[in-house]
Amino acid sequence: MFPNGIDLYLSRLEEINPVAFKALEPRIAKEPFDRLANLSSNEFTSEGRGLDYLESIQLSLLARSEGVMHLLGKLHPNGHDGLCSSLIFCDLLAGDGYVNKVAHRLLGAARCPSFINSDISQFMVDRCIRDGLFAIWQGATDPFWIRDGSVDGVLMAYGTHHIPRAQRVTAVQAAARILRSGGIFVLHDFEEGSPTARWFADVVSTHSVTPHDYPHFTAGEVLDLFAAAEFEGVTVHRMTDPFIFQGRDEESAVQLLAEYVVKMYGLEKLRNHTQRVLALLDEYFGVLVTQTSHGEFEARIARNALVGSGRRV
Ligand SMILES: C[S@@+](CC[C@H](N)C(=O)[O-])C[C@H]1O[C@@H](n2cnc3c(N)ncnc32)[C@H](O)[C@@H]1O
Repeated sequence: MFPNGIDLYLSRLEEINPVAFKALEPRIAKEPFDRLANLSSNEFTSEGRGLDYLESIQLSLLARSEGVMHLLGKLHPNGHDGLCSSLIFCDLLAGDGYVNKVAHRLLGAARCPSFINSDISQFMVDRCIRDGLFAIWQGATDPFWIRDGSVDGVLMAYGTHHIPRAQRVTAVQAAARILRSGGIFVLHDFEEGSPTARWFADVVSTHSVTPHDYPHFTAGEVLDLFAAAEFEGVTVHRMTDPFIFQGRDEESAVQLLAEYVVKMYGLEKLRNHTQRVLALLDEYFGVLVTQTSHGEFEARIARNALVGSGRRV
């Protein structure tokens, strides 16, 4: 992680984003290694489904942007209108900085918040740094690089179910610790029993290179988690969080959808079975193909997600 020493790594982070750098714990230069040694590795590596996952994003950066933009709007009391580069947002399950990349592309540099991309997978953190993003290696339950009360928004999304149930309260309390008073925490995942949770249990578990047996969330659990720390104005709602692809004809749009889903979930056993993948997607989510006003075709599957948000007291 620090081939040239931690001091050079910290200088690089400061150069990438001096605003985000202000949220880092000043003592970190002396003591990160013990905490890092305790981090376990997960499936988001080059040995697991990490590379496939990254390739899915390369196929289409904006496929999941509708959901991402919804979550970004929730992270500020004035919605998207309030977003600007002086705000510090920490994405605790950042992967390769997907949310940061979408925000930068769609909001532009001046309105894109300063992201701290944080992940338990060293492979993902390395990828962020390679792509010029501010990124640190730590688990969501112990974001030890970040000072108390130093960030304006915390996002835990697109993988919150990977945090074991017994550790979720600790993760929410850690999010509260790093948020400034008035800062907003947004937690996103899929609902137990929903088509997406069933997709993971039935399809991903059976056809992926890595098992996928993680409990998802209920609205009650989300409310209980927010009650474990000092938050006010807590709400839970459901949002549409689709995958959307464009193609010059119907066939290329659905082909891209199938390819993306196979890579995103590492569905090795379905890699050369496009029609089977599309049939499964239709069964679980419904595949909708429409023609756009520009004459292109758009393929979409309608995922739904559960979103909790609250303001740090
Ligand atoms: C499904 S990926 C999502 C990445 C990115 N947010 C996106 O939407 O593409 C989930 C990420 O969460 C990370 N992760 C899983 N458990 C974690 C934990 N306990 N602490 C921090 N990161 C974790 C994984 O390493 C992975 O990069």
